[in-house]
Amino acid sequence: MAQLWGGRFAKETDKLVYDFNASITYDKRFLKQDVRGSIAHVTMLSSVDIISNEEKDLIIKTLNEIVEDVEAGKLEITTKYEDVHSFVEANLIDRIGDTGKKLHTGRSRNDQVALDMRLYIRDEINEIKGDIKTLMQELLVLMKDNLDTVMPGFTHMQKAQPVTFAHHIGAYFEMFKRDFERLTDIYERMNYCPLGSGALAGTTYPLDRELTARLLGFKGPTLNSMDSVSDRDYIIELLSALSVIMMHLSRFSEEIITWNSNEYQFIELDDGYSTGSSIMPQKKNPDIAELVRGKTGRVYGALTTMLTVMKGIPLAYNKDIQEDKEMTFDAIDTVKNCITLFTGMISTMRINRPRMKDSAAGGFTNATDAADYLVNHGVAFRDAHGIIGRLVLRCIELGVSLDELSLEEYKNISPVFEEDIYKAISIEECVSKRNTIGAPGPESMKDVISKNETYLNNM
Ligand code: ARG
Repeated sequence: MAQLWGGRFAKETDKLVYDFNASITYDKRFLKQDVRGSIAHVTMLSSVDIISNEEKDLIIKTLNEIVEDVEAGKLEITTKYEDVHSFVEANLIDRIGDTGKKLHTGRSRNDQVALDMRLYIRDEINEIKGDIKTLMQELLVLMKDNLDTVMPGFTHMQKAQPVTFAHHIGAYFEMFKRDFERLTDIYERMNYCPLGSGALAGTTYPLDRELTARLLGFKGPTLNSMDSVSDRDYIIELLSALSVIMMHLSRFSEEIITWNSNEYQFIELDDGYSTGSSIMPQKKNPDIAELVRGKTGRVYGALTTMLTVMKGIPLAYNKDIQEDKEMTFDAIDTVKNCITLFTGMISTMRINRPRMKDSAAGGFTNATDAADYLVNHGVAFRDAHGIIGRLVLRCIELGVSLDELSLEEYKNISPVFEEDIYKAISIEECVSKRNTIGAPGPESMKDVISKNETYLNNM
């Protein structure tokens, strides 16, 4: 055990206690961020003459060597150390002795870990934003390729009105746009540097916190040292944003699973993204989509965990806060994996256009358009609604669609109908006429696609 404390203790820590208390097995993940923070800290310490220029240079050089050695597999981060901060400091002192002992001047592990976690989360936010952008690029390709792919739009899982596949995919594009922007907002709000807050009450050294913040790319230093060491709001915000991303991916997965089912056959997932059954030779299952849907639970779990961990914590730092890491890391890994796999899955799936169109043609998805036909011929909408309702009933009796019903039958219910009703309710026409902003008509979709293209180029 290589601890940073022990002077006031008369006894060794019990092994079980030591293990329970240690965080090295998971906080070793932010070794690089920890070293980056230390480099900024000593740079600042030398600029205010707390350590000499030579000491600063030697510390920075050695810190970089420690990272290189870990990366090259020459130095192992083991459970001999309580946490990553102890690992770095102990190795630094091993290598350069007394000069290494100056690194922690004016710093506590409380503001150090608060900094590391922020640096780590900032980096991850940027990575997740990159993954979302790749997914959105793929969605835009699908939209461009399917402007004329007519499919039924649903409400209550009942066929409602015809839309296009481009339009349906466009709905998810909007969701991921909001997800991207949420991450940007969180980044902006959390982008203040806690280092220099000490254990909780600042320090008596003349630390230049503005300089440290600038060196680490923050907008400035945080303004209350007690809040700085115990604030984990940004993690809760991140987990909340990640939960929403997963909720979107899960809804999308649910649709993929439905569309890929034997009954729908709107799409077929690629063999590379499907799995088989050990007993049923015919099976080709959408396991990836199902796993994405399932993994949503663990990300929600991380959010609930953090909200619960934080709810009873008095100011300032308490060890409970160490519980901010494992679930957060797991949620980040899960979301990144899910976005990447999901992107691969949808970019390789086959779209069954005839099947989608046939499905849109059944289920009276053009009934609203038939009512609109009457309205265009002077009938009040409420009356038109009733007339078409009776027509639908008649179609059900005869076992035909509105397109297949004879003009005579139409005229029996309302004399307003003429031969041109068939064109007015043709599925293509029903979609192509819908050109209000945000509607599925190809004209309005083209406009939206060009706006989204600009959006993507500025992301
Ligand atoms: N491993 C600790 C954490 O993650 C680092 C801070 C420890 N501070 C302390 N006073 N024990 O929160």
